[in-house]
Amino acid sequence: MASPTASAAAIVSSLSPSPVAAERPIPHGSLLFRGSRNGSGPLRLNSSRQRRLSPAPRAAKAVGAEKADPLNVMIAGAPASGKGTQCELIKAKYGLVHISAGDLLRAEIATGTENGKQAKEFMEKGQLVPDEIVVNMVKERLLQADAQEKGWLLDGYPRSYSQSMALENLGIRPDIFILLDVPDELLVERVVGRRLDPVTGKIYHLKYSPPENEEIASRLTQRFDDTEEKVKLRLQTHYQNIESLVSIYEDVIIKVKGDAMVEDVFGEIDKLLTSSREKKSEMVATS
Ligand code: AP5
Repeated sequence: MASPTASAAAIVSSLSPSPVAAERPIPHGSLLFRGSRNGSGPLRLNSSRQRRLSPAPRAAKAVGAEKADPLNVMIAGAPASGKGTQCELIKAKYGLVHISAGDLLRAEIATGTENGKQAKEFMEKGQLVPDEIVVNMVKERLLQADAQEKGWLLDGYPRSYSQSMALENLGIRPDIFILLDVPDELLVERVVGRRLDPVTGKIYHLKYSPPENEEIASRLTQRFDDTEEKVKLRLQTHYQNIESLVSIYEDVIIKVKGDAMVEDVFGEIDKLLTSSREKKSEMVATS
């Protein structure tokens, strides 16, 4: 989910000066995923789940990382784990180009394209939209000049082994992969209470971030897939696919606890991104 959040700048500035750079964990070890709700930190992988792939070439050449040394970030998590909300804050502070697969698909639906019509059928069922539609759509956006120059923030992509392979084959890898971790019972409540402002694009929640006034409240809309029944299907799809991503990005993946207040979740992410950016700059300087 994307969209300008009026309060993003306020949250970001309330956190400045930037927290001291955090030690960037290097995840190797034993698996803590799915059911492991013990907080933020490196997602450790079982030693038996060795990396299936030889490391792909770093994205630097393919996505123009060498010029301004921009940060390239992937963010994943279950439906309503807060990806879109956090992306607004990340975008406001780091100036990355936010690319949301869900938003690109909804734009296709809104303009009534053939791809949009087909995509909607899968989205209605909480399933992944087929690669034939999604892969090129995201790839094209990712390779545009702004994303290459400023760095990118990929939200909700890749979601499957084949989607990540499409990026690996182009030598595109993130500097950091943030995985938001929120207990399932909270996700359902977040989905059914979510509302969107079609004028500003801001994401609201009837309980956790209600509209500021009556005028805004009266124009809020709800996503067609934001029902309790559909979020359960989306959740199932998420769990079927996430482990393949965990193994592919094991060297850069970090789990962040997403059930805290929005600004606290961002504080954690901010530390990780600052650290990641510093380490990337150091590497470039010494190479
Ligand atoms: P997509 O639009 O990406 O949906 P999603 O992954 O289900 O995630 P959401 O947008 O629902 O949630 P979010 O994590 O962004 O949460 P948000 O910040 O809004 O994808 C939709 C569909 O498109 C998929 O089901 C699939 O069919 C298809 N699709 C997408 N990508 C695809 C791909 N790569 N391949 C194939 N198909 C694809 O927050 C949710 C609510 O919680 C809001 O109301 C917010 O205010 C509130 N909230 C957020 N953070 C907090 C917090 N810390 N505390 C309290 N409330 C909070």
